[in-house]
Amino acid sequence: MANVAVVGTGYVGSVTAVCLAWLGHDVVGYDTNPARAEQLSAGELPIYEPGLDEKLHEAQATGRLTFTADAAKAASNADVIFLCVGTPTGVGGMPDMSQVEGAAHGVAPYIKDGAVVVNKSTVPVGSGNWVRTMIEEAQSGSADPSFHVVSNPEFLREGAALEDFLYPDRIVLGGEEGGEGVRIVAALYERVLAQDFPGGKSDHKPGLVLTDLPSAEMVKYAANAFLATKISFANEIANICELVGADARQVLPAIGADSRIGPKFLQHGIGWGGSCFGKDVQALIATGLDYGYGSQILRATVEVNQAQRAAVIRKLQAELKTIKGRRIAVLGLAFKPGTDDRRDAPALEIIRRLHTAGAVVSAYDPIVKDVPELSDVTVRIATNAYDAADRADAVVVATEWDEFADIDFAKLADHMKGTLVLDGRGVVSEAAAAEAGLKVTGFGW
Ligand code: UDX
Repeated sequence: MANVAVVGTGYVGSVTAVCLAWLGHDVVGYDTNPARAEQLSAGELPIYEPGLDEKLHEAQATGRLTFTADAAKAASNADVIFLCVGTPTGVGGMPDMSQVEGAAHGVAPYIKDGAVVVNKSTVPVGSGNWVRTMIEEAQSGSADPSFHVVSNPEFLREGAALEDFLYPDRIVLGGEEGGEGVRIVAALYERVLAQDFPGGKSDHKPGLVLTDLPSAEMVKYAANAFLATKISFANEIANICELVGADARQVLPAIGADSRIGPKFLQHGIGWGGSCFGKDVQALIATGLDYGYGSQILRATVEVNQAQRAAVIRKLQAELKTIKGRRIAVLGLAFKPGTDDRRDAPALEIIRRLHTAGAVVSAYDPIVKDVPELSDVTVRIATNAYDAADRADAVVVATEWDEFADIDFAKLADHMKGTLVLDGRGVVSEAAAAEAGLKVTGFGW
């Protein structure tokens, strides 16, 4: 068991800190925001993630998990220091590395001899070397402790982060010459690799990918870019299905049954959102441009995704003829179910487009109750789906929360003025809706 410091307690940092402590390591979570460190010390999570608060309390009860805003307290005794700070999109699509720089400078004076600094933030290829230089620059003199740099990209999905941390398909570690740093971090994950913990799955042994720094950094981008491309491909096929009279709800599962393709991430509809896909695809495109490379597929992935959001307006116009003055209810605000995250959520852009087209918009989400990003847009946040649909000409399903799949169509029809349900996520039963006199339209059929 090791002494671990986790720098940054957002999504990735809080999940990493809690899980590593729960697995037996001594973990100090460090955040430059004292209020955040206090909140976590009091057992309160800054994010909504199913199951994480129970694990936080279990880990804190062991005494192995503490939080601080003091860099020295966090790093001076750490064998392994995870950098888990944000890298939002910066200039020209390239990630803004200022938080990584701040984190590297923050821990540099306290790094002990032989410690491993692990990049877990999503960082452009080449950042491992950059972090080493940052730390060396920030260290005082020649007798500085030696340290290792490792890249350990995370593949956590929001809403399933605990599962993805404890039951990953693979753990990727990229290191420098000699591999000592990689060996130390691999040992940290021993219990995950062996599934040797309460609830471990003996039939699920994660792979361990050992590689060099740039390759590990590239794995993260390539993985997210591929998933985004797979979804955009599914949406492109769905768009063609609509034109030729085929049914994407049949076609896509049929191609997904081919083990070379696989059924996952073939769900067509209004497209992907969230804090990662858009940001990471843009970063990869920007990286390519740095070398004069055009990345046609990646650019198309983004264009197709954007067009899906615009298609919602087109489909409503096709059915309602005019949007101006119409009441439209949007069900779902989070970018996907299981999270309160609205970053790059398709629903928000759809609401903005409806507003621009002159519609009267209402919206409801089981978890998201406030949308500061839409402060310049008139949208009524309703208390439930039926309230949102009050006198609505049409309802748009933008996030596939279970409660929308199980909605009471008769009650919905009673509240609505119109009969149109535009299902942007393929969760609404056409037959059940028809029984209530509602017409469902969607994507790909
Ligand atoms: C993603 C990656 O999955 C994860 O490995 C990485 O670490 C972070 O980015 P996340 O952003 O939480 O995770 O969401 P994910 O579940 O991947 O969904 C991304 C978007 O794609 C959502 O908007 C979702 O609605 C959409 N999606 C997903 C589809 O439109 N169709 C699908 O078949 C799957």
